[in-house]
Amino acid sequence: MKLIIVTGASKGLGLAICKKLLKDGYKVAGISRSQTNDFEALQNQNTDTLFSIEYDFSNTQDIQNLVRQITKEHGSIYGLINNAALGHDGVLGTMHESQIRELISVNVEAPILLTKYASRSMLMKLEGRVINIGSIIATTGFNGLSVYGATKASLSGFTRSLARELGKAKITVNTVAPGYMKTAMTEGLEGKKLESIKRRSPLGQLATVEDVAGTVSYLLSEDAKNITGTTITVDAGSTA
Ligand SMILES: NC(=O)c1ccc[n+]([C@@H]2O[C@H](COP(=O)([O-])OP(=O)(O)OC[C@H]3O[C@@H](n4cnc5c(N)ncnc54)[C@H](OP(=O)(O)O)[C@@H]3O)[C@@H](O)[C@H]2O)c1
Repeated sequence: MKLIIVTGASKGLGLAICKKLLKDGYKVAGISRSQTNDFEALQNQNTDTLFSIEYDFSNTQDIQNLVRQITKEHGSIYGLINNAALGHDGVLGTMHESQIRELISVNVEAPILLTKYASRSMLMKLEGRVINIGSIIATTGFNGLSVYGATKASLSGFTRSLARELGKAKITVNTVAPGYMKTAMTEGLEGKKLESIKRRSPLGQLATVEDVAGTVSYLLSEDAKNITGTTITVDAGSTA
């Protein structure tokens, strides 16, 4: 059974990805800062295949140990889904420096370090998949999301160059860029703003966490073995 690490597994998109990958027959190690009832319920249904690890990615010092621990307990890693992220918004001029640093640590430094250590298993087996969860905000603008946007754009650059580096070992690296989905991260947009995003999209709807989880599942599959270094946008056409 192939082992996949999913970060930010406790809720939202990460939880939907865990559900989908368990259905697909993978073993999943889900990492987040806290447990949720929904994650626990999923674990009760998948006692042998879903593992929970508590870790705060604002601490980037112990990521090597984290990966070492996972491989020791669960075996080599086939896939890494860098999904955990913070979505702090704020006008740059008044945003606290500590918030800016936290966004960069959790959204950029942590996924880069996780990939560095998790890809060692993949390099040894000459197979593997790295999927970075980006955002349409990496390529479009949104008032109040400049730092978040910078972190997501940086993941796309990381994806492209790393795909070149790891391709020799038959490891693929891609970004999935969701549009707005209803999760805890977009609670602040509920109501009029989300309604207008929905109305203006060609399909007249928002992408769901299940839509994005399906794309992640595809990128992990054999059918996607020749897709690397790219970004797949799942946004009901909002950026078309
Ligand atoms: N929602 C959207 O509209 C949207 C749009 C485009 C892209 N995205 C991207 O999709 C991904 C998932 O977002 P979401 O909407 O599902 O957000 P969410 O509901 O806020 O979930 C975020 C997940 O990341 C975990 N997390 C946050 N900070 C962490 C930290 N310091 N250490 C460890 N885990 C941490 C959270 O768990 P704990 O709080 O328990 O740690 C949670 O499981 C993110 O990369 C986000 O940027 C979302």
